[in-house]
Amino acid sequence: MNENLTAQLTEALSHFGIRGTIGEIFEGPLITDVQFQPTTGTKFSTIAGSIKDIARELGVSGIRVSPVVNSTYISFEIPRPKAQTIDFVPLLQSEEFVNAAGALPILVGVDMHGKPIIKDLAKMPHLLVAGTTGSGKSVGLNSFILAMMAKKQPEELKLILVDPKRIEFSMYNKQRYMLCPPVTDMSMAARWLEKLVDEMNARYAVFEQNMVRNIGEYHAKGKKMPYIVCVIDEFADLILSDKNVEKQVQLLAQKSRASGIHLIIATQRPSVDVITGVIKANLPTRLSYKVSSPTDSMTILNMAGAEDLLGRGDSLLLEENGTLTRTLGAYAPNEDIVSLLAPHRCELEDIDYSGIITGQQIQTQTQEYIAQQEKAKEDALNSGKSEGFWAKIKGYWNKLGKPMQRRIVSIGIAFVMALINNKSSKKSSLENATDAAVKSAKRSVKAQAKQAITKTILDSLNKK
Ligand SMILES: Nc1ncnc2c1ncn2[C@@H]1O[C@H](COP(=O)(O)OP(=O)(O)OP(=O)(O)O)[C@@H](O)[C@H]1O
Ligand SMILES: [Mg+2]
Repeated sequence: MNENLTAQLTEALSHFGIRGTIGEIFEGPLITDVQFQPTTGTKFSTIAGSIKDIARELGVSGIRVSPVVNSTYISFEIPRPKAQTIDFVPLLQSEEFVNAAGALPILVGVDMHGKPIIKDLAKMPHLLVAGTTGSGKSVGLNSFILAMMAKKQPEELKLILVDPKRIEFSMYNKQRYMLCPPVTDMSMAARWLEKLVDEMNARYAVFEQNMVRNIGEYHAKGKKMPYIVCVIDEFADLILSDKNVEKQVQLLAQKSRASGIHLIIATQRPSVDVITGVIKANLPTRLSYKVSSPTDSMTILNMAGAEDLLGRGDSLLLEENGTLTRTLGAYAPNEDIVSLLAPHRCELEDIDYSGIITGQQIQTQTQEYIAQQEKAKEDALNSGKSEGFWAKIKGYWNKLGKPMQRRIVSIGIAFVMALINNKSSKKSSLENATDAAVKSAKRSVKAQAKQAITKTILDSLNKK
């Protein structure tokens, strides 16, 4: 199969005047990586420029070509006929992850050869995620959160999860790791960001008092302070609903590395009104899943390429130092997430806020949030009831049919008109109004009947 593929590739390349020798071949879960050494003098841009036509000749879409770092080879990543899914749980139990060092290791997925890619969020120190709908963002976010939870105890890590869609993070409710229930209301989410800024400033004051520079040194003194990670799915909803959000994110992104507060922000819309210059400047580590255009890829990664990814977790990770790695996200089905979370379930009042300096305020805000949520739920149920009543009336009305509806409306109008016109009459105005309404209704029924008869005659004449 590989021989067939390399023969086809060599032939297709020769059609574009590109010659060289095939090197190593790696069979990955998503692609076959064929390394190729072009003859000296071949420009990389010539190969990159012809790649769409080469792909067409091979009958595949989405070949990615990139120079192999520190070598004379070029790598052709040719999609496999059927991609493999990378299961999250075995990866979580892998030796690489179990032994992974770092304050907040996250499982980004596997590389194109199937090797786990583990990165420390604390060093990133924030992550910006983008990708079109269905490209694997939420699946990715879940795996990052679960990986951090696997490495840290609830007293060492606290989470704030923002989820305007309401469904992505709902199973994290009542987890010991949560500072508050998943935030689904955008104005509340903006307030949570403000609270995080307060906590960050309070932490700096504590560090100063203790003569340490960061959370690591504070922990080294035997003091307790949990890391806080705020994950925002659908960031566009948040930033477009509140102008202040950009400022809060900027403050957090600029200063929170030392204080142990980290952000993971995901967006479906990598447009410049969402990923603004300020956001980009402050979140240098970015993960792009498949996007819909080279422009979107430019916005998130400063280069084209993410538009050619294959979807379902296929992604490009851009690190702070400029390295770009293609990764395939791991997938945890719902039942795996549920069983990973089961041991950490608790009641909201059992959540431990120790080590969080503004814990008291955060607790108060949580209570406010829960009260607000309950009121919103109640309102939704009540509006459901009244909607039910009006829906019934509407249903009866629609059942009457157009002619009857017209008749009722015309009787109603005639009745009101007659009431107004007959105010001065000797007869009681109500009697007059009724008479007039009945007369007018008769007229309208007659007129409608006339219209209907004429139409039938005309129709039958036309048919003939
Ligand atoms: N790493 C993966 N491996 C296998 N399948 C995946 C992977 N990531 C995503 N998928 C598949 O794609 C579907 C959509 O993924 P996901 O919900 O993460 O998309 P999304 O980017 O969050 O989309 P949206 O912007 O609409 O929320 C998943 O339900 C799953 O079936
Ligand atoms: Mg999603």
